[in-house]
Amino acid sequence: MSNIKYHFYRFMCNITIGKIKRFFQYKKNMSKTNIVYNRGENNKFIVLDSQDNELHNYQYIKNLSVKFNGNNNLVILYENINLTKSLNIVCSSNNILKIGRTNNPVNITLTDLCENCKLIIGNDLTSYGVHIPLHDSKGMEVNIGNSCLFAGQTEIRAYDGHSIIDNCGNILNSPENITIGNHCWIGVGSMILKGSIIPDNSVLGAKSLYTKRTNPNDLQSGIFVGVPAKRVRKDINWDIRNFDTLSQIMPVNK
Ligand SMILES: CC(C)(COP(=O)(O)OP(=O)(O)OC[C@H]1O[C@@H](n2cnc3c(N)ncnc32)[C@H](O)[C@@H]1OP(=O)(O)O)[C@@H](O)C(=O)NCCC(=O)NCCS
Repeated sequence: MSNIKYHFYRFMCNITIGKIKRFFQYKKNMSKTNIVYNRGENNKFIVLDSQDNELHNYQYIKNLSVKFNGNNNLVILYENINLTKSLNIVCSSNNILKIGRTNNPVNITLTDLCENCKLIIGNDLTSYGVHIPLHDSKGMEVNIGNSCLFAGQTEIRAYDGHSIIDNCGNILNSPENITIGNHCWIGVGSMILKGSIIPDNSVLGAKSLYTKRTNPNDLQSGIFVGVPAKRVRKDINWDIRNFDTLSQIMPVNK
């Protein structure tokens, strides 16, 4: 065989072998588990189907990795979650993380979960990019109701990360849990700080800063806007459908 023929033959063989290797790698990835490692005990990763039945042989969930560094953690997700960006769940100990049933895009970034922290998200979440750091203070809870919508570049911070101390030596800025009610729409670039409680059916305007003082305590829904956010309208609701769709079936108040 001439030298050229020999090299051409080898080249073709390498391509075929490469294709076969990639095929088996793909097959392996399809069946691999989402649990990257489990260094502790009594850790549970539960995948539910749409009828809330636990699946013992669930399919690999794309873009998800779960790591257990400690003990007694519980992670619950639904099989058809549509993670549009990598969700890396890293548990320490006694963490609970649940994301409810949803067919909508889910883009959430987390930091490693500090001990005893909980993140509970209801059904029908839509998220185009929410960052929820929970690595810094033990025992924090973030609860998000059903049907919430997070636009891109939003953030939920249950603690400040550094301490503010008064002249008597007291820390002023303790971490506090956050509750976002059902059916809240969080506008693009907004931030929700420690102690915030957002009433059901509320809207937080673009680039707004919701703090624990934003809520006027009556828990009526509202449009909250600005830095810090203030309520500019109360007793409203919103709809995930856009103006063009909804204005076909509802009157418009100009
Ligand atoms: C919150 C929002 C929905 C309210 O819309 P709206 O009901 O039409 O409100 P208006 O434009 O009439 O504004 C009402 C008042 O709030 C103020 N305001 C509205 N949005 C604001 C914002 N994001 N930050 C600060 N002030 C704001 C207006 O200046 C106005 O103040 P005024 O009464 O003193 O004049 C809209 O302003 C907004 O922020 N949209 C962005 C939503 C988004 O992020 N979408 C991403 C898709 S997922």
